[in-house]
Amino acid sequence: MPIDFTLAPTPPMGFNTWNRFGMDISEALIDETMDALVSTGLAELGYVHLNIDDGWMAPERSAAGALVPDPQRFPGGIKRLADRAHGMGLKLGLYSDCGRKTCGGLPASYGHERQDADTFARWGIDYLKHDWCHVPFEDFPGASEREVAQILYGRMSDALVATGRPVVLSMCSWGHGEPWEWARGVGHLWRTTPDIMDTYHRDAHRGTQDMLAIFERNVVLDPFAGPGGFNDPDMLEVGNGGMTAVEYRTHFALWCMMAAPLLLGCDLRGVSAETLAIVGNRQLIAINQDPLGQQARRVWQEGGVHVLAKPLADGGQAVAVFNQTDGAKDTAPQEHVSAAGPAIDVWTGARERVGPVHLEPHQAKVWRVAAG
Ligand code: GLA
Repeated sequence: MPIDFTLAPTPPMGFNTWNRFGMDISEALIDETMDALVSTGLAELGYVHLNIDDGWMAPERSAAGALVPDPQRFPGGIKRLADRAHGMGLKLGLYSDCGRKTCGGLPASYGHERQDADTFARWGIDYLKHDWCHVPFEDFPGASEREVAQILYGRMSDALVATGRPVVLSMCSWGHGEPWEWARGVGHLWRTTPDIMDTYHRDAHRGTQDMLAIFERNVVLDPFAGPGGFNDPDMLEVGNGGMTAVEYRTHFALWCMMAAPLLLGCDLRGVSAETLAIVGNRQLIAINQDPLGQQARRVWQEGGVHVLAKPLADGGQAVAVFNQTDGAKDTAPQEHVSAAGPAIDVWTGARERVGPVHLEPHQAKVWRVAAG
């Protein structure tokens, strides 16, 4: 059964508990984060999904085999949170896994897909992130990881559609099984990379998971993104403290250019003005949420400088130039794009033309360019 593509015409925006809180989550955290989404103005900017990641379930299913919320951490249950979210104009998301257990070792949906989808629908869930730990490959002798992913994500997709409730499905196989090649129509988002770490590129041991490595893996997948299905290079780290302000601006700008889901991952209770100024940048949000739903194409790269171009519905485009290196660079992006129209620098608001630019280390400059 096909999914409802209209549930993600543009990349979903909101918050997810994992990057900042891991398994250490509670009902109070969710209530307070809902309040913060509204009081900071982030909800009004489009950040409406509040997604609870791993750690919400009790260690055992009920006698009837159903998933139940952890009675200590979520004493009021999930339905109360969903009802409250809806009353505030927000949406509530939950997390499960294709295997027997979640990555954190809690019960997951293998063999319970119908039952769990029904539970989620009954509670009023709007979004499901479905992970890829503890998958019983031994039950699929001879099948490749890709084939098993197609079967198991297909089962949950069908189960959610069968409930009749509109639920966004976020597939999280970390790029295993090349989901971009087949997941359109199964889920609305598919992770393309391992888990992001809150670091730019300093730690050699994290060479596959720093922001730069994640960008590199995802940026080449632009042909696969479009309304109803997007590449997911993982959630935002802006505000968590591991990168400089320049690096966080770059992280956010690149994710907006790549039509990535914008899921905030910092503590929103007491979020700083600096973080809000980054993730609240209206020009970048508009570029991310552009109705054409296209992911930027990398049109040029040399010596650690990248030029990306993202076509926009008004006939214009967004152009980004990014210096990944540790030294300043002078570069001429206008040589690699045809972007002659009037442009606005999304960070400074300056009205100018796409032209020669001096970039500090790790800096990205983005213009919104009118049709020329
Ligand atoms: C995996 C996912 C993460 C997070 C954790 C939870 O690592 O990729 O995004 O959901 O599991 O345990």
